[in-house]
Amino acid sequence: AESAVPPEQEWHHSGIFGTFDKAALQRGFQVYKEVCSTCHAMSLVSYRNLQALGFSEDEVKAIAAQYQVPAAPNDAGEIVERPAIPADHFKSPFPNEQAARAANGGAYPPDLSLMAKAREHGEDYLYALLTGFEEPPEGVTVPDGMYYNKYFPGHLIGMPPILQDDSVTYADNTPATLAQSAHDVSTFLVWAAEPHLETRKQTGVKVILFLLVFAGMMYAVKRKVWADAH
Ligand code: HEM
Repeated sequence: AESAVPPEQEWHHSGIFGTFDKAALQRGFQVYKEVCSTCHAMSLVSYRNLQALGFSEDEVKAIAAQYQVPAAPNDAGEIVERPAIPADHFKSPFPNEQAARAANGGAYPPDLSLMAKAREHGEDYLYALLTGFEEPPEGVTVPDGMYYNKYFPGHLIGMPPILQDDSVTYADNTPATLAQSAHDVSTFLVWAAEPHLETRKQTGVKVILFLLVFAGMMYAVKRKVWADAH
């Protein structure tokens, strides 16, 4: 069966004047950190990038220090671990794809760094996917280790309906309904995939304003230059 088209959601970052909702970004990061990062890497993002979400330098240092990453070999040639620093990339849950598949019944949880750009309908799809787990329709059997999702192409997905009401307890006390946390983590994934979205939109607006003024000026110049023409 065809997968359903994801309904359009309201996003603070949509439209030509759109900007990121920083509180939503911080909540979305919390969802990624506490739920998604058990299975999904985001290896293109560094801890220091989190400053764009409104975290201070010290907060970012503290977040990074919660993770242990391999250090350069010591004098004895052994690889030991060290706490991560802001310059490190997000720590991946698995050392490689084989290990990730082995832990997920053969399915591969893809890296989420660019996921908001990688799929048609972007954040609307992410939101729909996270809220789209359902009982299968009559006559459809779901194999062991797979789940039925209204929006996943082919409907049978190897990811469990892991995000639920109250999967997280938000630091800012926003009620963490499934809809809220799916919306927040989708917002966070848009930021990860396009951290310069705000600059891009603002530049676009400035360019259009400039062109309007410039076109007016050129029209005035044309009128003056050709004023005496017969
Ligand atoms: C696939 C998001 C949590 C396991 C995916 C996909 C997305 C996603 C966008 C790709 C779907 C596609 O290919 O179109 C998320 C988010 C999570 C989350 C935002 C947290 C809220 C988890 C967790 C697990 C998991 C905790 C492991 C228990 C998987 C697997 C796949 C997958 C195995 C591949 C499914 C397949 O190809 O059949 N996830 N995920 N995910 N996820 Fe997650």
